[in-house]
Amino acid sequence: MCPDSGEDTPTEAVTLEQALALAVGWQREGRLDAAEPVYRQILAVLPDQPDALHFLGLLEFQRGHEDAALEWLARAVAVAPGHAGLRSNHGNVLQTLGRLDEAEREYRAALAAEPALVAAWNNLGVVLHAAGRRHEAIEAYRHALELEASSAADHHRLATLLERCHEYEAAAVHHRAALALDPQHLGATRALGHALSRLGRLDEAAAAYRAWLALEPGHPLAELRLAACGGAPAPARCSDAVVRGLFDQYAGHFDAHLRGTLDYHAPERLADALALVLDAPAAALDVLDAGCGTGLCGPLLRPYARQLSGVDLSPKMLEQAAALALYDALETAELCAWLNAHPGAFDLLVAADTLCYFGPLADFAAAAAAALRPGGWLAFTLETHTEALDHRLNACGRYSHAPAYPLRVLAGAGFGQLRSQPVVLRRERGAPVEGLVVLARRPAAPGYACAD
Ligand SMILES: C[S@@+](CC[C@H](N)C(=O)[O-])C[C@H]1O[C@@H](n2cnc3c(N)ncnc32)[C@H](O)[C@@H]1O
Repeated sequence: MCPDSGEDTPTEAVTLEQALALAVGWQREGRLDAAEPVYRQILAVLPDQPDALHFLGLLEFQRGHEDAALEWLARAVAVAPGHAGLRSNHGNVLQTLGRLDEAEREYRAALAAEPALVAAWNNLGVVLHAAGRRHEAIEAYRHALELEASSAADHHRLATLLERCHEYEAAAVHHRAALALDPQHLGATRALGHALSRLGRLDEAAAAYRAWLALEPGHPLAELRLAACGGAPAPARCSDAVVRGLFDQYAGHFDAHLRGTLDYHAPERLADALALVLDAPAAALDVLDAGCGTGLCGPLLRPYARQLSGVDLSPKMLEQAAALALYDALETAELCAWLNAHPGAFDLLVAADTLCYFGPLADFAAAAAAALRPGGWLAFTLETHTEALDHRLNACGRYSHAPAYPLRVLAGAGFGQLRSQPVVLRRERGAPVEGLVVLARRPAAPGYACAD
């Protein structure tokens, strides 16, 4: 029954079970040419033999013959609809092909036949997660974890999903379970502090960030987060590495998240304020979008601009901005350094939601004053707080500022015509994030103070 030469070749007649066992063994070893004829010979005699149909389907899939694979598997399902392993494997093939609805149907059929099939619960979780049905995915992963002593990776996967659903308490439990099984688990080590800080358990979060730093000494995000929960002094601003890392990761879903989920409107609030002080748009100004990100301010600034430039630390955010084809120039650089290198280059400088990554604002104000031409306008947004602190690094890793502070700093940097207005910048889980739109003007000529 075996075409393969060598020691595996049976010399005597074998039973169906023996033939299948041999072929499956060869298939597992990757010896597909040996296994295939066995399945075909079985099917020549027993066309509805479900195991041969099943494994031949998987073999065709291993070869990349997707249509043939699906045909054999469908035939297997037709003759053995209650075979849990078959339905689960059929689901895996469909999942790999991106046919998530059909994969889900197969996993559910597998679980109807064998409710304790852990792999099917896990794979069901994966397709539900991929389909954005996070709460159902959580339930599926939980079933799998209840059935079988599981790995650190399983706990971490569930914890990550729980965090996405803002279930921080449960997320922390599963991060800790992952760490109990594998104390060096990097993903759980990195994520535990975040869940704890979201719960307001800042001392525990600080301990978790210290554990992260013990595994990855000097990691910039761990250092920032340790400071953000009060475990170390706050830096003057988020480091270049942190900003680049965060926003490079965020770039692909930034617009959808900010606009769709967070109802973000800082660009519009800035444009409203600028419309009150600028002449009607006449494409006459040299404009800088400072921390331009994906370019959400671009459409609002373009009508004013003779030349519209954007600068940002994150190359991936800039790729999105470039795709808008609205900017004349986009540069990857740190904002203050870049402004200092471009003295007197702009008539209008706008920073929407960029300075919430800065604590003290004096360096920015001085650099902005240097980069603006006499009479040029500066406009930016900040998140605000009500405490008597000029600036504060919050547990979320962003800074907020006291409303009076930016005006004091701007006056100190020589700006006039100072204006600020409270605004709602976005909503987080339904609650408004309070902020400020700030406008200031560089005096028209050195030594000449603008009228307020
Ligand atoms: C929240 S996003 C806002 C993006 C855009 N202004 C908007 O309103 O959609 C903040 C942006 O500021 C950038 N950023 C933060 N600190 C920066 C710095 N020091 N230099 C340059 N870009 C910075 C980030 O890379 C990110 O793209």
